Amino acid sequence: MNISAALESCPVVPLVQADDAGVAVNVSQALAAGGLTVAEVVLRTDRALDCLRAVADEVPDMIAGAGTVLTAGQARQAIDHGAKFVVSPGLDDAVVATCQEAGVPIYPGVYTPSEIQHAVNLGLDVVKFFPASIAGGVQALKAFAGVFRTMRFMPTGGISPDNLAEYLAIPAVLACGGSWLTPADAIAAGEFETITRLAEEALSAAADARGQ
Ligand code: 3PG
Repeated sequence: MNISAALESCPVVPLVQADDAGVAVNVSQALAAGGLTVAEVVLRTDRALDCLRAVADEVPDMIAGAGTVLTAGQARQAIDHGAKFVVSPGLDDAVVATCQEAGVPIYPGVYTPSEIQHAVNLGLDVVKFFPASIAGGVQALKAFAGVFRTMRFMPTGGISPDNLAEYLAIPAVLACGGSWLTPADAIAAGEFETITRLAEEALSAAADARGQ
């Protein structure tokens, strides 16, 4: 499966954080109903791997990856639970190697030019830029894009409807990630239509930003 191709047409990656597989499925279905096709199930709860497995099995319209993957062991577990891609907050050689050996795309977090250069030398062509708003935002990305000409970026951290278009207007940005599409209060209240509406709005803003 070519995740990069999916992200070209749907360049918004919502975070799904849940401690219950049924909730993770409901959230993912709501996102898919709003047109989003790629989501990151974050390993931040005790039952996150079950959530990942449930989304991978029960939401065929969603390409589910694992986020917040910190160790090679977690990367292996995430892949075993159906992750189609892996995202890390930082750049770790063992996590990258585990994913590369399994043939699963890995998008590690980077913050500095040295980390991006290291990612280039690990054979990567997509990295997460995290936390984007603190690491220099749009201005930093433009500077990095001029130097690391083969690299595509997935800025995450501080992305919102207010700045999404600005990030997506940069050609080196493959997609933007974030939690604004899956508000915890809407999930707690079972207001999944709110998530669908946020997904639709993000997709529409993305299409405008990309001139589609
Ligand atoms: C991440 O894990 O990528 C960030 O926590 C998302 O940041 P956000 O909550 O600002 O979108």
